[in-house]
Order: sequence, then structure tokens, then C-alpha cells
Amino acid sequence: MHRGKGMKFVGDSRVPKNSGFVPPKDYSEYPGKTEAFLPNFLLKEWMVGAVFLVGFLVLTMAEPSPLEAEADPTKSGYIPLPDWYFLFLYQLLKYPYAAGHYKVIGAIIIPGLALVGLLLAPWLDRGPERRPLKRPVATGLMLLAIVSVFYLTWESTVSHDWKQAAEQGKIVKKVSIDKNSKGYKIYSSQSCVNCHGQNLEGQVGPSFIGKNIPASLVEQVAVKGIPPKMPANAFKGSKKDLKTLAEFIAKSSKK
Ligand code: HEC
Repeated sequence: MHRGKGMKFVGDSRVPKNSGFVPPKDYSEYPGKTEAFLPNFLLKEWMVGAVFLVGFLVLTMAEPSPLEAEADPTKSGYIPLPDWYFLFLYQLLKYPYAAGHYKVIGAIIIPGLALVGLLLAPWLDRGPERRPLKRPVATGLMLLAIVSVFYLTWESTVSHDWKQAAEQGKIVKKVSIDKNSKGYKIYSSQSCVNCHGQNLEGQVGPSFIGKNIPASLVEQVAVKGIPPKMPANAFKGSKKDLKTLAEFIAKSSKK
């Protein structure tokens, strides 16, 4: 008789190798402790499933999907962000030794080693010991992996520019801009168009649409800039043209 109140464990690493094949016991040996699969057990499973299904449905209705504006492949300033469970891999690719020339290290070698190591773990670690403290290598590697994943995930969230990302993802109404106006011609011939977009929708710089930007602010910013992101002296031209440009942006940015 082994451990477990007269039962033998089958397929358990604690069972000595030489104990031979132990046939599983028959249901009839557990009077009062079994239940019919159909319909009793299946019905219980279905009830639990239904509770979860309704729960998920309620959650999806209570919290609307965090949709962003339609993807625009011409928007070069967009900062992509993977889903939370991939953030640690994303962060890994930001370090100099795992990016650029070394991106194979960050994208394939490091994650590959971790994954292959995990797959091979049952063959690499064959000791009979089960207590974590008695298995320093396995426990150490596991702790290292957990700490790295948490640290990298945390790093990626603090280094992400959430404000700018929200700004870029904002769903803005398409407004018609008078592209034949003198103001637009000045706008598109200046550097402004590269950063603020063909339709004032924003690229590297913010969108102007719906912001109610006063003409005086445009005149000021076009000359002085907004350090450090918006350069000074972005506008090149006459005072009169600047005024026309400022009035155009002010008018187009009206709600
Ligand atoms: C190199 C890119 C770049 C160029 C070129 C540029 N901008 Fe900007 N602009 C920015 C960025 C980035 C910001 C946001 C700065 C901040 O808030 O820190 C900005 C902000 C502004 C704002 C303030 C917007 C707001 O919501 O308050 C105005 C107005 C503006 N720019 C006008 C212009 C005009 C007019 C020109 C052309 C003469 C121009 N910009 C050229 C990048 C640029």
C-alpha cells in the first residue's frame, strides 16, 4: 500500500518506476461519490458556462471598445503599441543591444532561447525533487523570467507617450478645408504641412481640427515655436502671408 489512503497514483512522478502498471479503479468502488455524465455533470458544466457567458456579455456592453481613429498608413508619426501581454517583448526591442543591427538578438534569439528552454525543461530538469528551494536552478530561472517580464512591461508603460498616443488616435470629424484658399496655399508651401498634415489632421505635430486655435497663437507659434517639439521660425515669408495663414488655420480649426 502506498500513500493516498489506499490509492496508487498513476502517472505521478512520486510513484517508483518499478511499481508496474496500476489499472485505474472502477467507479463501482466509490459508492455515492460518482455522478452520471449525462445529464447531471454536463448540465452543471453548462450552467457554469452560461454564467460566464452572460458575465462576459455584460462586461462588453458596460465597457465600450477603446477604438481609435481609422488607421492611416501615411501617418509617419503614429506610435504603435502592442497589447499588454506583448509589452515586455516590445520593450526588449528598444534596448540598443536588442535593436537596430542586433534586432535578431531581441526578436529571435532571446525569446527563442526562453521558449525552447521552456519546451525542453522536462528533459533538462529530471530530478525527483519537487520543493522549489531544493531546485535552485529551476526556481532561479523562473524568478528571473517573472521579474524580467514584469520589469519590461512596467518600463514600456512608463516610457510610452500616452498623451501623444491618445492625441493621435483621437477620432476627429472629417472637415472640408478650402484647399483653393490663399491661406491653404501658404500652409501647404510651408513646412507646417509636413508636421500638421495635408488636411490639418496632424502628423508628427497635433491636429488643428476642432481645437479653436486663435489666429494670434498661430502667428506667435509659427515664429517662436513650442520648444522642444515644434521648431521656431517654421514660417518663412512675409508678415502679410503669416496673417493670412493664421486666419486660415483659425477658421479651419473652429468647432
Ligand atoms: C517639425 C514639425 C513641425 C513643423 C514644421 C511645424 N509644427 Fe506646429 N507643432 C509641432 C508640434 C510637435 C506641436 C506640439 C508642440 C507641443 O505641444 O509641445 C506643434 C504645435 C503647433 C501649434 C499649437 C497647436 C495647439 O493645439 O495648441 C500651432 C498653432 C502650430 N504648431 C502651428 C504651426 C505652423 C503655422 C507651422 C508652419 C509655419 C508649424 N506649426 C510647423 C510640429 C511642427
